[in-house]
Amino acid sequence: MAKAGAQFHCSACGAVHAKWAGRCEACGAWNSIVEETGPTTGPGGRALGRRRGRGMTLTALSDPEPPLPRARSGIDELDRVLGGGLTPGSAILVGGDPGIGKSTLLLQAAAAFGKAGLAPIYVSGEEAAAQVRMRAHRLGLDGAPVRLAAETSLREILTTLEGERPGLAVIDSIQTVWADTVDSAPGSVTQLRAAAHELTTFAKRRGVSVIMVGHVTKEGQIAGPRVIEHMVDTVLYFEGERGHQFRILRSVKNRFGPAEEIGVFEMTGGGLVEVANPSALFLAERDRPASGSVVFAGIEGTRPVLVEIQALVAPSGLATPRRTVVGWDAGRLAMILAVLEARCAIPFSGMEVYLNIAGGLRITEPAADLAVAAALISARQDIALPADMVVFGEVSLSGALRPVTQAEARLREAAKLGFSRAIAPSQVKAGAESGISIDRIADLAGFVEGVFGSFD
Ligand code: TYD
Ligand code: MG
Repeated sequence: MAKAGAQFHCSACGAVHAKWAGRCEACGAWNSIVEETGPTTGPGGRALGRRRGRGMTLTALSDPEPPLPRARSGIDELDRVLGGGLTPGSAILVGGDPGIGKSTLLLQAAAAFGKAGLAPIYVSGEEAAAQVRMRAHRLGLDGAPVRLAAETSLREILTTLEGERPGLAVIDSIQTVWADTVDSAPGSVTQLRAAAHELTTFAKRRGVSVIMVGHVTKEGQIAGPRVIEHMVDTVLYFEGERGHQFRILRSVKNRFGPAEEIGVFEMTGGGLVEVANPSALFLAERDRPASGSVVFAGIEGTRPVLVEIQALVAPSGLATPRRTVVGWDAGRLAMILAVLEARCAIPFSGMEVYLNIAGGLRITEPAADLAVAAALISARQDIALPADMVVFGEVSLSGALRPVTQAEARLREAAKLGFSRAIAPSQVKAGAESGISIDRIADLAGFVEGVFGSFD
């Protein structure tokens, strides 16, 4: 008979099951279901008994609250992603693939916040203190006011933090931390949840900012996954393509600032270096105008970013020709191909299609639709677009172009980087002041005719 309070969790996705099974119905993982004993509870971690509580203290919505003082690291790309600096007492999760540079970023951040007077403590559960020291030496941070510890026991970590009260604690990584109050293996969902909860509560109670590193699994989720994302105030992802030196820090949730903000870094032999002008970097590898290459004027968070979209279209002998996308949504590509076929009579059947966002950036904005369509047609017809032209606009299923946000900022950025022409949806009013000549287009068919001439 199952013990009272026994529960079964999938250690891959966190789904709760009433009984054990070989395969998790929620995510399909095999052998991932583990028994979690202990009280089934709310986030407080304590079973609700009969005892009456003390009641809550209620306050008015209008009670004055002083603005949160922020600590700035001086690493602008990081401060902006945090929403203007580090909020005291905030809990932050930094997720990313193993080896992408999380430890490097956080050691540099700790050093910078140390110089700002936060007296940070860096707890490594993955590397020995000597290894972290070696990395610090390599990064030229030997003298930085950061104290180190190699520890995985949550009890030891919390006791030390209680005593020391630093302004910032970095826990690298949350997956290595284990609580002895929880009867399950380190790395399991229960352990992860307990550790993240304790650390988050500590952060709030003591006003100590806690940054936790979380490794992302193959499936692209922070292992032990979403279960801790809701607990923390801010979730940042550190992304990048292997083989590319660009790294992007992206906020996917932020209680203290805008989400979807990005910070761009370059990984060098001496650590991560800020990239103040990402557009110049993303366009740096572009040489002479080539067919299939289009510059998209995008917005990432609050900042305009120009990127090159590359397409290659080649005849295929396969019954189902290949469609390969890097840095964009495959479903969205299928939609653009269908719209081109149905509304502009430009078929791609029998052709392989490859789409790539240069520089390893991942774009989620629908405003990239028109630039993708332009790259596809340009590749298919082997006609290069003018080198001084940027493109943006969302394409609807009818083939009509829809307006996009912040057109002015996009055009200003394009002008700054020496572009002189733009193709944009007809609703775009702004632009005159940027000095860019704008071709306003109402639908995709009009765009094809205007830019590429007629098809046969
Ligand atoms: P790391 O921060 O250990 O990644 P994570 O904590 O996300 O697993 O960084 C790993 C990679 O970064 C490693 O392959 C080496 C590279 N690297 C540099 O290129 N330059 C540097 O200065 C450092 C410290 C690391
Ligand atoms: Mg690491």
